[in-house]
Amino acid sequence: MAAMAQTRIGTRLVPADAAGIHEAARLLRAGGLVALPTETVYGLACDATDPRAVARLYAAKGRPSFNPLIAHVPDLAAARRIGVFSAEAEALAARFWPGPLTLVVPAREGAVCDLARAGLSTLAIRVPAHPVARAVLEAAGRPIAAPSANRSGHVSPTSADHVMADLDGLIELVLDAGASAVGIESTILDCSGERTILLRPGGLARGPIEAALGHVLARRTTHKGAAGEAPIAPGMLASHYAPSVPVRLDAAEVRPGEALLGFAGARPAGSEAAVAVLDLSPTGDLVEAAANLFAHLRALDAPGVTGIAVAPIPHEGLGEAIRDRLNRAAAPR
Ligand code: TXA
Ligand code: MG
Repeated sequence: MAAMAQTRIGTRLVPADAAGIHEAARLLRAGGLVALPTETVYGLACDATDPRAVARLYAAKGRPSFNPLIAHVPDLAAARRIGVFSAEAEALAARFWPGPLTLVVPAREGAVCDLARAGLSTLAIRVPAHPVARAVLEAAGRPIAAPSANRSGHVSPTSADHVMADLDGLIELVLDAGASAVGIESTILDCSGERTILLRPGGLARGPIEAALGHVLARRTTHKGAAGEAPIAPGMLASHYAPSVPVRLDAAEVRPGEALLGFAGARPAGSEAAVAVLDLSPTGDLVEAAANLFAHLRALDAPGVTGIAVAPIPHEGLGEAIRDRLNRAAAPR
């Protein structure tokens, strides 16, 4: 990202108590930028109906402006006011909201500004489960755009400290509610076409979704909007979740200079000489592994580490989303 002159402002880090929630909603209504806890990752929130606020948000993230944003609302009734829900989208929302699931549906005219949708005719909508996020959404009373609260290309933040490391001086407020419980972004389903398609594996695993739908989910990695319009990148510039050093998946050995990101206690050959070792879940629990993923990647991306070797991680359950993020981190850039 080319360096861009940006005015630095005082960023306040406050607890997510009643006063903090009130202040967050006030700032959002006034066009401010506020980092909020959600159950998946911390989000950088702004008023999705305010093009100036959305433009500031893109600038603070250093995000390419063709990448559309998720509109967050407190409940399904509010979601129906901004998007058009098919029977299948209704069923998914009823079953999994609030929670780590984002549904892409046809947008209602004027529901959020064009810039937040990056000009698409569809809109990604999520009802988060985190009580602080829900309280802020209710108090703000309008759809809130909230990408992950990191600089574009960095790993997603799962704590207020991660947010400050990336965005201190660029946003008004950070609400601190401790570590994110899920730790990986929401699963994104495209419900705007004939068939429901998995756009991004995430915090809700494929299994329960397919059980609710009664059929298997198609997966699409290159995506055109519902009307075959502008190509978009759902998550999904290849190297989107990147630490500064190379990441190697399914490593059979740890090479000199590498740190090891382990799983289930596995210690590949050469682990004794690893610069650092962290285990995503010593007991092999994929839910715990997802919760630790981004914090561990950040911790291992440290001075003296020339690369991160990742022990094999299973494909099932949340393993699909964990492997997706690690594959992006491993992509050449
Ligand atoms: O868990 C989450 O989803 C977090 C928390 C903060 O809610 N948010 C998040 O937002 O991950 P973000 O902006 O980092 O990722 C949203 C993804 C982007 O990759 C974007 O391309 C995709 O959603 N997206 C947004 N609108 C879309 C649309 N209309 N069609 C397809 N993909 C869309
Ligand atoms: Mg993101």
